[in-house]
Amino acid sequence: MDLAIVILAAGKGTRMRSALPKVAHPLAGKPMLGHVLDAARALSPSRLCVVFGHGGDRVQREVPAADVTWVEQAEQLGTGHAVAQAMPHLDQEVVLILYGDVPLIQPHTLQAFVQRVDARTLALMTLDMDDPGAYGRIVRSDAGAVQAIVEYKDASDAQKAIREINTGILACPRAFLAEALPKLSSNNAQGEYYLTDVIAMAVAAGLNIDTVQPAHAWEVDGVNDRVQLARLERIWQRQQAEALMRGGASVMDPARLDIRGVVTCGEDVVLDINTVLAGEVTLGDRVTIGPNCLIRNARIAAGTHVEANSVIDGADVGEHCQIGPFARLRPGTRLAAGAKIGNFVETKKADIGPGSKVNHLSYIGDAHIGAGANIGAGTITCNYDGVNKFETHIGDDAFIGSNSALVAPVKIGASATVGAGSVVTHDVPDDHLAVARSKQRNLSGWKRPQKKQGEH
Ligand code: UD1
Ligand code: CA
Repeated sequence: MDLAIVILAAGKGTRMRSALPKVAHPLAGKPMLGHVLDAARALSPSRLCVVFGHGGDRVQREVPAADVTWVEQAEQLGTGHAVAQAMPHLDQEVVLILYGDVPLIQPHTLQAFVQRVDARTLALMTLDMDDPGAYGRIVRSDAGAVQAIVEYKDASDAQKAIREINTGILACPRAFLAEALPKLSSNNAQGEYYLTDVIAMAVAAGLNIDTVQPAHAWEVDGVNDRVQLARLERIWQRQQAEALMRGGASVMDPARLDIRGVVTCGEDVVLDINTVLAGEVTLGDRVTIGPNCLIRNARIAAGTHVEANSVIDGADVGEHCQIGPFARLRPGTRLAAGAKIGNFVETKKADIGPGSKVNHLSYIGDAHIGAGANIGAGTITCNYDGVNKFETHIGDDAFIGSNSALVAPVKIGASATVGAGSVVTHDVPDDHLAVARSKQRNLSGWKRPQKKQGEH
């Protein structure tokens, strides 16, 4: 289908009480408009337009999208006026209208929806509501055919009693829209050019109006303030948690998991409470994540355990690793299979070989560690001279004694040993012991200082 999609996003969003334009506010870590754009892109439209108004350049900065035609609506004169601004950019057969502040519309629902449109048929997304509030009402004939949409402020009491409402989402032949929009008038309760008035015009022209209801009511929920945004956030998080559970992950409490990105999970993954998964995250089979962890842009391979209160950011973790509690893996960390990173250890741009252990209180940055090495508690790679960064290389099976400072650039050879408390400034050859600390002296006859008489 030759499709154009127009996303209306010119409203001020006053009720957000924010310097940030409403459609740039994040839901699940992504601007609301970004969600709508993604749903739109799933339909492969040949034109994608966003109608913006206030704070236009701010919207474009917050939601960069090279495939979008940005159309300015300088004055917000109504939804019909907003669509009219986009018309000069459209020459597709079918036009679909979406809203930047209705973020959770699903591609699947839209696909079925646009299929209903042909040269003689408009598709209208409606919803039956127990409490239809101030939405536009769908007026039908006795035979059930849609006649018109009446805005709440223009509705009679009998019309206000109608429970089928207009979600705002509409798809129709472009040729019809091009004829109808210039004929709209603003002679109504709000003095606006209502897009909804094209429905009665279509009926008068003998076109059919086909209605479709979304699979879930939340797909067509709009956001006017932060309370509504938070409500949709919870709904969306629940959906994502359920998708993970259906895929074989155990989520200890779906209300205490937040996914702000795209997560791929293997089977028998266990996610304990208060986990945040952000960006692109891949968790292999049997990975377990303890409570209070943040995992962002990371791949964690099968069988790895991440204990409580750990942060894993931009890291690639192999199979059967053990991480945390209280570990921090920063970008560029790569753990080979069976590596162990213990409590209060920070790593950055660190390649840690198979089975190597950094168990306690260390900083490992700009470092390459071979297989089977043991890095004692409190080891620091001194990688920074205040201007430049330098690398530390540690060979297979090396043993670094506790509280050592490895002053980069430096190489510790394979099976080398560094005595505890050493400050290592020179390379250590394979199999050697390096001791770089002052010698211990034991002095006999030492008397502790005494308090002077009369002092307290
Ligand atoms: C509109 C519908 C109403 C429907 C409701 C669903 C009309 C006339 N009414 O009402 O039938 O039940 O949505 O939520 O269409 N916008 C612009 N430019 C404008 C005006 C609006 O871009 O000049 C955008 C807004 O940013 C918003 C959307 O269009 O995203 C809807 O505008 P809004 O004023 O909220 O419409 P409603 O009065 O709620
Ligand atoms: Ca309005």
